[in-house]
Amino acid sequence: MPRDVIRIVQITDMHLFSNTEDVLLGVNTYQSFQTVLDLLKLDETQPDLILLSGDLSQDHKKGAYEYIVEAIQSLGIPACYVPGNHDDIEVMNEVLSSSTQIMRLKHLLLDQWQLILLNSQKPKSVEGYLARTELDFLEDCLKQYPSHRAIVVFHHQPMLVGSPWLDSSRLQNADELWSILSRHPNSHTVLFGHVHQEFQSEKNGIPCFSTPSTCIQFKRNSVDFALEKLPPAYRWIDLYQNGELKTGISRAAHYIGFFDAESKGY
Ligand SMILES: [Fe+2]
Repeated sequence: MPRDVIRIVQITDMHLFSNTEDVLLGVNTYQSFQTVLDLLKLDETQPDLILLSGDLSQDHKKGAYEYIVEAIQSLGIPACYVPGNHDDIEVMNEVLSSSTQIMRLKHLLLDQWQLILLNSQKPKSVEGYLARTELDFLEDCLKQYPSHRAIVVFHHQPMLVGSPWLDSSRLQNADELWSILSRHPNSHTVLFGHVHQEFQSEKNGIPCFSTPSTCIQFKRNSVDFALEKLPPAYRWIDLYQNGELKTGISRAAHYIGFFDAESKGY
C-alpha cells in the first residue's frame, strides 16, 4: 500500500435479515446499515480495508449475507470478516465467497503490521470461546512475524464491559488469550464487537476497543438488558509505520427507527 498510513474501518453487528423490511427492536437493520455505509462514503479518507467483526446476520439466511456482498462490492474496498454468535458460518462463507472484494482469511500481513482474525463462536451458544486451534494459530502468527505489530480480531469481548447481562456471554477462556499475548511483545491491539457500544480498555498494556453496532446499541453499565438511544456507527483505525495506532468512532447523525425503551431482550 503506497500511503504511509493504513486505514482499517471496523463495521460490526449488522444483524441483517433476508427481508429488508424486518426490524430488530424497532430498528430496520438494513436501513441502519445503509446509513452507516453512507456515512463512510462521505468520509474524505477512504479505508484500505473493511473489517466485519461478526453478527452480520440475524436470521442466518443467504439473503442477509447477500446484502453484505452488495454493500462491499459497491464500496469497492477489500474486506475480511470473523463470525459472531448469530452467524451461520457455512452459509456466511458460501455467500461471502461470491464477492470479489471479500477475502476469507485468518491472517493478513501488512507493512509493519499483521492482522490476526479468530473465530470466537462457540457452537449453539451466545457466549464466546477460542478453540485450541484458534489459540495455536494466534501464537504461530505472533512467533512467525515478531517484527510485525499484531492486531487481533474476534467477536466476543475478552474482558468485562460493566454490564452483567452482557458480560455473561463474554469470551469464556480469555485467560488463555491473555497468556499468549503476554508472551509476545508484538501483541499490539485487540478489536472486537458483540457489545453494541463504544468501549475502550487495556489489559497487560494492550489496548482493546469495541465498536458500536450498525443497528441497536446496548445501554452502557446496565445490570439488565436495556437499549441506549445512540445512532449507529463505525470505527476507523489508522496504522502508522512508526507503530502508532490512532482510532475513533464515526457516528451517524440520528437514531434510525423507533426507539424501543421497554424491550427486555432480543
Ligand atoms: Fe450483535
